[in-house]
Amino acid sequence: MCGIIAYSGHRPVVPILLDGLKRLEYRGYDSAGVAYAHKGSLAVVKQAGKMHQLEEMLEGRQNGATSGIGHTRWATHGLPNRNNAHPHTDNGKGLALVHNGIIENHQTLKTWLEDRGHRFTSETDTEVLSHLISQGCLQKKEKFEALAWALDQVEGSYAIAVIFQDEPGVIWAARQSSPLLMGLGEGEMFLSSDIPAFLSATRDVVYLDDGELVRMEPGGWQVFDSGSRNPKAKEVSRIDWDIRAAEKGGYPHFMLKEIFEQPGVIQDCLKGRIDQDKAQVLLPEVEGLPVPERLRIVACGTSYHAGLWAKHLFEHWSDIDVEVDIASEFRYRKLRFRPNDMTLAITQSGETADTLAGLRMARESQVPVLGLCNVVGSSVARESDRVLYTQAGPEISVASTKAMCSQMTSLLLLALYWGRRRGTTDESLERTVVTHLRALPGVLEASLPGMQRTAQDLVQRYRESRHFFYLGRGLNASLALEGALKLKEISYIHAEGYAAGEMKHGPIALIDPAFPTFVVAPADDLAPKTLSNIKEVLARKGEVILLSSPSLKFFGTYRWDIPELVWPLSSFAVLPALQLFAYEMAVELGTDVDQPRNLAKSVTVE
Ligand code: G6P
Repeated sequence: MCGIIAYSGHRPVVPILLDGLKRLEYRGYDSAGVAYAHKGSLAVVKQAGKMHQLEEMLEGRQNGATSGIGHTRWATHGLPNRNNAHPHTDNGKGLALVHNGIIENHQTLKTWLEDRGHRFTSETDTEVLSHLISQGCLQKKEKFEALAWALDQVEGSYAIAVIFQDEPGVIWAARQSSPLLMGLGEGEMFLSSDIPAFLSATRDVVYLDDGELVRMEPGGWQVFDSGSRNPKAKEVSRIDWDIRAAEKGGYPHFMLKEIFEQPGVIQDCLKGRIDQDKAQVLLPEVEGLPVPERLRIVACGTSYHAGLWAKHLFEHWSDIDVEVDIASEFRYRKLRFRPNDMTLAITQSGETADTLAGLRMARESQVPVLGLCNVVGSSVARESDRVLYTQAGPEISVASTKAMCSQMTSLLLLALYWGRRRGTTDESLERTVVTHLRALPGVLEASLPGMQRTAQDLVQRYRESRHFFYLGRGLNASLALEGALKLKEISYIHAEGYAAGEMKHGPIALIDPAFPTFVVAPADDLAPKTLSNIKEVLARKGEVILLSSPSLKFFGTYRWDIPELVWPLSSFAVLPALQLFAYEMAVELGTDVDQPRNLAKSVTVE
């Protein structure tokens, strides 16, 4: 979703803004723009389309400006065209502003502003902010007061960066429910929606919180509480990961790189969380937290599928009642929480607006919240009572891959740990699973290249298919959903994920020779049940791609064997197989793998 970059320092600003915006491209966008103070006025350059189009417009404009703001827009209010692209200005072009979020009362504010002579030039909700701040300047004179007053009028979510024509070198910013952080360099300051945008220049960051207003210039910065107008002290954090983690490293796409990183991701996730001698799980992050009797899992997209997957583990091993909700549904349910409930918010980015709203709802009801996040310092991480980091490193491809692997690893550890605490798993089970888990990265590392070749073969066979079913039972039903989601997301092929046993209640009517079915059935207790569903498909002349492990003796139309692994570890081999099939299909069809159309990596609006 929208990305913000701002810079104030001693270097030419345009290349810095362009580089920052390119590093934010993964968030998903359909237009981009920059603004900088130049020769006493504000230059605003923006364009619909991809970054190279903006870059072409800016060619030859490498001027002396050393501060400015930039934005990638993911359209919410108004078409993705040049007029609606950010930055937006006021009528006198005294200020330029970029925004991520939604101003919910923009219609009322617009009417109020129009009555006072402001003329609007876009269909966006954002434009009210630039006019409102300008109106504030007229009424309040001081920029700080004008900004704070304008923000007082606004309902909704925002991360903004503002520059004024008569104050070159100064950047103002504010945050409410949309991510924003500062990067502190040597005589230069950055502001962005995410760390990779400035990580090549500095590792020192300040995470902004809701209700904060910032003034920064090359020599310093100051954070204020926007409501009380008082200055606030902030902690400076040090980023310990490398910018190379956010680069392709020789792979044609981030997605492929991230799929191949999964063995390492499992290893990193286990670091410090296994007692090597006892082969037992250690989870210092949740120590002292009462084990819940009922767990309500809240998440979106791929993270939701990880939650569905983990439900089986919490039920089997920890004897915990589990409900898994899509966050956008959860937040509007009328829920009755019980004393020993806990909410588990699963989110790679930690910024997904619906998941954050679900978390807040639970906290308002005094229910403890555990956050399972990848992005350190993200909103969910900061607002949860406890946080378990997945330690997967930056995930850049919009379609999530390694994040799910890291979520599954963490959730598996949590289910084992809680199982021991509740006395519902015995030591030998934990030891067996942990021993196999430690060996898992090696097994996956060895099989990923072969899996990619199989995916390529399979794609050649099914490249003309425009519909796919994905079926599975138990754990594998959630993986079937994820397989279908990956195919939809990046290859734009229609795919439906279904619980295998449910297919006969409707979807089976769709089966014909041109509608292949991907069946996820590694050898486990439920696999024999799934075999009868395969027969039902075959009997209707449907083709079956059977993703299984060697000990299951059956053949569909096409058999794909993954390594034989104990329950539930087979899922860790199923997952990359499904991801690679979607990836190879997208490559074959020539789609934009890392930035699929219409999608955003981090969905910060409702
Ligand atoms: C977006 C992304 C998905 C992701 C989902 C949830 O839709 O495109 O890949 O699974 O958001 O994101 P989260 O950061 O909360 O895991």
